[in-house]
Amino acid sequence: MNAIEFKGVDFSYSEDGAFAIKNLNFSVKEGEFVAVLGHNGSGKSTLARLTDGLLSADKGEITVFGTPMTDKNLYTIRKQVGIVFQNPDNQTVAAIVEDDVAFGAENIGLPREEIGKRIDFALKAVGMEEFRHSTPTRLSGGQKQRIAIAGVLALKPKVMILDESTAMLDPRGRREIIDVVTRLNKEEGMTVVLITHFMEEALLADRAIVMNRGEIVMEGTPADIFERHEELITYNLALPRIGYICKQLQAGGMDVPDTLDYEKLAEEIAKCVS
Ligand SMILES: Nc1ncnc2c1ncn2[C@@H]1O[C@H](COP(=O)(O)OP(=O)(O)O)[C@@H](O)[C@H]1O
Ligand SMILES: [Mg+2]
Repeated sequence: MNAIEFKGVDFSYSEDGAFAIKNLNFSVKEGEFVAVLGHNGSGKSTLARLTDGLLSADKGEITVFGTPMTDKNLYTIRKQVGIVFQNPDNQTVAAIVEDDVAFGAENIGLPREEIGKRIDFALKAVGMEEFRHSTPTRLSGGQKQRIAIAGVLALKPKVMILDESTAMLDPRGRREIIDVVTRLNKEEGMTVVLITHFMEEALLADRAIVMNRGEIVMEGTPADIFERHEELITYNLALPRIGYICKQLQAGGMDVPDTLDYEKLAEEIAKCVS
């Protein structure tokens, strides 16, 4: 079953006809981990907002687990789709971590006891149990973002969309978030849509798509996509760091293949220098 399906979707923010999303056909299977890549303004956030019903399509059809996106179904769909945004500071609402995590679950009117269980589950899932009584503002960026993820998890959504949720974090904070979502995908079967401009993060996805001017211009496994590096550059996207390292070694006259696997690269270098 498809978790998300877009059929011929158009969307523009203004009447002057500038499309933010143009004739988009896109689907994500239940349990899949999809990375959405694309430079600024390519339509990634618009795609996320359309999936959650924060925006409604001008044309075409959007379904979430088979439910068509209509006003009547909005509540059902929003319960299934959780979004984590870019800036963790704008997502904290309470003075104590556990209240912050509970906020969304309280808003949908869950019973006290159930909320307590969900806080336990969500904090454990993001590895933040010991911070239950802490003050969110005192946490690091990566920790705050993990709390934001816990708040979404407490709603038990079937799909989690991370819209550049690691953009404000340092490499360690980014790693923490990626580890959490990878685990939720593998162990809990959560469907994940990871919107990012960090190429390295996309390597962990089952599939990656590249957006440009509101359209999908490339699609495949992350490795397939990164092999087409000349094309990526035309969409203003860079290779993952290891891609550059390979290129530089090759330019320096070393006979190494293009690879995204650091261990393999190390072996190849060892062959060259031995
Ligand atoms: N609130 C808005 N009002 C008007 N135009 C917008 C708004 N948000 C985004 N856009 C425009 O829509 C296009 C797609 O933007 P967006 O989906 O935010 O891209 P991305 O997330 O890939 O950076 C861009 O041209 C952007 O300028
Ligand atoms: Mg965006």
